[in-house]
Amino acid sequence: MKKIAFIFDLDGVIVDTAKYHFLAWRNLANQLGFEFTEEHNELLKGVSRVKSLEILLNIGKVEISEEEKQKYLIKKNEEYLGYVNKMTDEEILPGVKGLLDFLDENKITYALGSASKNAPLILEKVGLYNRFTAIVDGNDVSKAKPDPEVFLIGAKKLEMNAENCVVVEDAIAGVEAAKAANMTCVGIGEQEVLGQADFVFNDMTGFTPDFLNQLIN
Ligand code: G6P
Ligand code: MG
Repeated sequence: MKKIAFIFDLDGVIVDTAKYHFLAWRNLANQLGFEFTEEHNELLKGVSRVKSLEILLNIGKVEISEEEKQKYLIKKNEEYLGYVNKMTDEEILPGVKGLLDFLDENKITYALGSASKNAPLILEKVGLYNRFTAIVDGNDVSKAKPDPEVFLIGAKKLEMNAENCVVVEDAIAGVEAAKAANMTCVGIGEQEVLGQADFVFNDMTGFTPDFLNQLIN
């Protein structure tokens, strides 16, 4: 058996928080006087909060002061946290618990590698916080995905070489970060979008025992 470890992205892999980010960003856009669609929201997946605001303001062709940006970032996050605070373990995506159980049974360690500064709270809310050996989130990195920093810190915390780490990601920037880190990457989403990943599944139920055995043997 090969010694491997897993590093999971959070949003879109463990839970679907994109819908809550969408509600909060859309509200902000509406307040600023423009529409914000689900397609626009796709552009924010895997992107840091500050960068997301920049993209949103670009979409609306709105220019605001640095001070206003800070105010809106706080406002958006407050609304988002309102949704997060209501999350329960029912929001864990199908296939995730089975995968974590398999990893525990096979003594394969795993970390979280997320751009979200709210990652620890979200994991708490859905009851998964204590299962991760290490958590690397938006507070720990200075360079956002597609920079590999978040995953390299994760590998270090797991005491694993990069080439023995398997990253699970749903965002293009995340897949790029994993490949830049020289890790195996499993993309969750569409093949056409995440083609750079080594494997792509529609959702987390793609981690069948057969596939997992192929990874570790
Ligand atoms: C994840 C999500 C992004 C989000 C980012 C920052 O990467 O996919 O949509 O903008 O985290 O999240 P935060 O909770 O810190 O605002
Ligand atoms: Mg994601």
